[in-house]
Amino acid sequence: MDSETTDSETSPANSLDAIPAGVREGRPTVWLNPHIEPAAEILPTLALSLADVEAAEARWRRFDPLLRHLFDDLETGRIDSALIPLTDAVARTISGPNGGAVWVKADHDLPVTGCIKARGGVYEVLVHAERLGLETGLLRPGDSYTRLAGAEAREMFGAHTVAVGSTGNLGFSVGVMARALGFAVEIHMSHDAKAWKKQRLRDLGARVVEHQGDYGSAVAAARVAFEGRADAHFVDDESSVDLFLGYAAAAFDLRRQIEAAGIQIDAEHPLCVFLPCGVGGAPGGVTFGLKLLFGDALRCIFVEPVASPCMLVQLAAGLSRPVDVYEIGLDNRTAADGLAVAGASMLVAETVGSLIEAVVTVADADLFVWMKRLWSDPGLRLEPSAAAGFAAVRPYLAAAGTGQATHVVWTTGGALLPEAEFQAALARG
Ligand SMILES: Cc1ncc(COP(=O)(O)O)c(C=O)c1O
Repeated sequence: MDSETTDSETSPANSLDAIPAGVREGRPTVWLNPHIEPAAEILPTLALSLADVEAAEARWRRFDPLLRHLFDDLETGRIDSALIPLTDAVARTISGPNGGAVWVKADHDLPVTGCIKARGGVYEVLVHAERLGLETGLLRPGDSYTRLAGAEAREMFGAHTVAVGSTGNLGFSVGVMARALGFAVEIHMSHDAKAWKKQRLRDLGARVVEHQGDYGSAVAAARVAFEGRADAHFVDDESSVDLFLGYAAAAFDLRRQIEAAGIQIDAEHPLCVFLPCGVGGAPGGVTFGLKLLFGDALRCIFVEPVASPCMLVQLAAGLSRPVDVYEIGLDNRTAADGLAVAGASMLVAETVGSLIEAVVTVADADLFVWMKRLWSDPGLRLEPSAAAGFAAVRPYLAAAGTGQATHVVWTTGGALLPEAEFQAALARG
């Protein structure tokens, strides 16, 4: 489908008027962020810094031995994915005849959970487990973290609950990690979240609480339910700094892979990274980490469904108050369940709002087309949300120009999709 391009340079800040007509009408749109600023000017003004992301990376590494011990598919202990080169023929279908090389950052196949939300969700459970371990004296500085898999630790964790509100994949990521350590787990989900995602959580031994409203109301209800409970930790998808830093550490993985592949990244050879966006935590954290490492040679493009462009709406309207997609008449109904979010995280909008290059909205029908294409060659098993990036490359390049860029499409989930769900989605392509 064709996309419209808008650049709302003259629009007033904090006004719904600044949201392009095409977005209101649910048409695929490329929104070039008029609020973008040089990374060197923005990054020093933020509350979080490179030291915070380095500390997150160091924590991940402290947990390598424990993760290796707990999960059979983690030979190294690292929850990371491959950076996959696409053939010229496949790349041309994505970026156009002169569009440049396309790589896939394959988080659809991330070990343990098969989705990007593990980077934040698993990480936050590890932060909590480390804190409890140190507070109770079960873990002493210098100990191997495999101690946290022992009987004593499991008994201690078993007296604690980890809770989260989720469209599905964050709940799964938090649930897998927390259950592996022995925590009780409670996941709050909207009534229309995918049935198989709810069942998968119940099979883990998690308690699933369904809410009549959307994802945002499930998060809000869970936040209230767990407020002030000393025996519980609530993972707040909308405002958790730990989640954000867990995602941000992915930047080190990508930089290592880019260097190993010998890809040149500089002002003349920018790196364009296409990131599916729901509430914004995963793409926001990754953007923050990558901007710290690559500065303005990096362009992060967020991709949202036409019915749920919450980050576009928030950034276009300005940051002085939260704005959701219902306010402009959209219904937040999309087949990309991981991206079905009406209101963006204000933490993310405020932290990376001036670092995001563009937001592109894509039609649901195109997600299924790309799922099918990427399955036939090179055989990527994606869920609809994870195909969003592919649909955005050409519209973005048509609007912003191609240059000599390298493109990375971040695939964010799908490897653990049940076969019947996958086949049904392919049939819609
Ligand atoms: C498959 C998939 N992709 C992308 C996202 C977007 O992440 P976020 O909601 O942090 O923006 C999600 C969120 O659940 C997801 O499940």
